[in-house]
Amino acid sequence: MTTLDSFKPIAEGPPPSWRERLASRIDRWMTSPALNRWASRSPLTRWLVRRRSAQLFDLMAGFVHTQVLLACVRLKLFEQVLDAPRTADELATLCRLPTAQLQRLLDSAVALHLLERRGGARYGLGRMGAPVVAHAGIRDMVEHNAVLYDDMRDPLALLRDPNAARMHAWWPYTEDPAGQPQAPAPGEQFARYSSLMSTSQRFVIEELLASYSFAEHRVVLDVGGGMGGWVSALARRHPHLQLQLFDLPPVAALASEQVQRQGLGDRISTHGGSFTKDALPRGADLVTLVRVAHDHPDGDVRTVLRAIFNALPLGGALLLAEPMAQAGGAPEPSDPYFHFYLMAMGSGRLRTPAELTSLMEEAGFTHIERVPNPIPLHAQLLLGRKSRDEARGLPGKAQSSVTFS
Ligand SMILES: C[S@@+](CC[C@H](N)C(=O)[O-])C[C@H]1O[C@@H](n2cnc3c(N)ncnc32)[C@H](O)[C@@H]1O
Repeated sequence: MTTLDSFKPIAEGPPPSWRERLASRIDRWMTSPALNRWASRSPLTRWLVRRRSAQLFDLMAGFVHTQVLLACVRLKLFEQVLDAPRTADELATLCRLPTAQLQRLLDSAVALHLLERRGGARYGLGRMGAPVVAHAGIRDMVEHNAVLYDDMRDPLALLRDPNAARMHAWWPYTEDPAGQPQAPAPGEQFARYSSLMSTSQRFVIEELLASYSFAEHRVVLDVGGGMGGWVSALARRHPHLQLQLFDLPPVAALASEQVQRQGLGDRISTHGGSFTKDALPRGADLVTLVRVAHDHPDGDVRTVLRAIFNALPLGGALLLAEPMAQAGGAPEPSDPYFHFYLMAMGSGRLRTPAELTSLMEEAGFTHIERVPNPIPLHAQLLLGRKSRDEARGLPGKAQSSVTFS
């Protein structure tokens, strides 16, 4: 059986209210060709029809847009025009493609603001192309998304059997279709995903550093810390901190090499193990869990949160950072990507802040709050405490200071 956690089924509700009946009537009006014809001619409504049509077209064309981006990344077009704006002929020579075909890609990239037209029929970098050339993490994810989009070519097959997805095999720590951990994977499989995580983690690191003051802490343990990008950044930014990293043994070994290479061996210790069965290192008064919980089913998330709670001293804290569903309280356009990515991966799921809060409360954390961050797209942050009240014999009653819609 797949370990994808199913969402709670919605019990049969009360009969539809007048609002719901009205909404159903509007649904039928909206599909009426006569109303559509009228709305697209009326000066009062035609702007709306035009806007909706454009939105729907974008939705249909989304796959082509992402493939245009992939082609630009693979051809290194952004790097080529960053050196100097170039004509289609010059780019065709550099990319070893016929000008006529390349021209279509260039014009498509201009339409998507990846490139822009400059004087003398030359192409320069567009406003959406600039971040792609600036961040290796974006380029790596664009390339990696090809695996997901391959799996999504037949969305119904993916929905029926997520464990058959190629993406599932890409992540060696997800479970096989029988609910067992996959057979031990070769080291290069760990190195492959760890390297992708390391480049794409840059954005989350910026969010964490910008949003939380680490001044009150002495020792920080990063669980599922990958190749150590986050603990290394923390060590450099906050010289008073000692750091620990815990990850699966092959990944912890890679992290250890990185840490030594950067000369941070005396500040950062690395520990190999599995948080589903091994104890976590002691001594940290803050644990960070960055882009880890969403990879795992609820049962494993309960286990790791409990292990973190047990490893912390009274008054210690957990800072959890990962993409969350319904960032603004309602479904967001970024939700579908993470829902499908995690389904293809085959074990975790995108959770709302409220769902994560309740898992943290179950593990014993209290005073759970959202830590606002500048760009809540790659990650949102939740902070929970191991209450000191427990030591004073007071009930460590789980309470969140924030309500979630
Ligand atoms: C999606 S990656 C995130 C890595 C890093 N925190 C980041 O944000 O880039 C998840 C990490 O959790 C680690 N992991 C998965 N299962 C684990 C387990 N059972 N015990 C310890 N680490 C685990 C993986 O090896 C991987 O490094």
